[in-house]
Amino acid sequence: MSAPLSVYTLLGEEKIHQLVDHFYEEVERTPDLRKLYPKDLEPARQRLYWFLLHVFGGPATYLEKRGHPMLRRRHFQWAIDPEMRDRWLGCMGKALDQIPMEAEAREAMSTYFYRAAQHMVNRHPPE
Ligand code: HEM
Repeated sequence: MSAPLSVYTLLGEEKIHQLVDHFYEEVERTPDLRKLYPKDLEPARQRLYWFLLHVFGGPATYLEKRGHPMLRRRHFQWAIDPEMRDRWLGCMGKALDQIPMEAEAREAMSTYFYRAAQHMVNRHPPE
């Protein structure tokens, strides 16, 4: 049995790079999310790009540059409630819509982003 193809293999670096660019364009248009990010988005863009290469089966540059991701811990400094999660996912969904890709890759990425974003939620509105 052959191993499943990774998103990295299906998409390639160029499309992952474009995805990150589109994502940050959407962040720029979403003031309630944009306010969490530093003024200069370039370093953030670079980090997300390295990270996505790694999680989707490509080179481990993120680990070399940033060490163990510990993403949930790195996100504790921002109040992320379900509304903020949905803003982030909305930006990523619009970015995904702009990259032509096979349904298999889209499905794998959407599932991953939903789970990861849910994992980042660290504030819950009162019942
Ligand atoms: C960093 C917000 C979800 C991956 C950041 C930063 C902010 C942020 C403000 C700082 C930007 C920087 O300077 O690097 C959020 C919010 C989320 C969310 C509000 C809502 C759920 C996610 C998800 C992923 C992710 C789902 C996984 C793909 C990253 C990575 C970094 C980062 C890799 C850089 C970490 C580092 O090396 O310092 N995020 N994020 N984030 N985020 Fe998120």
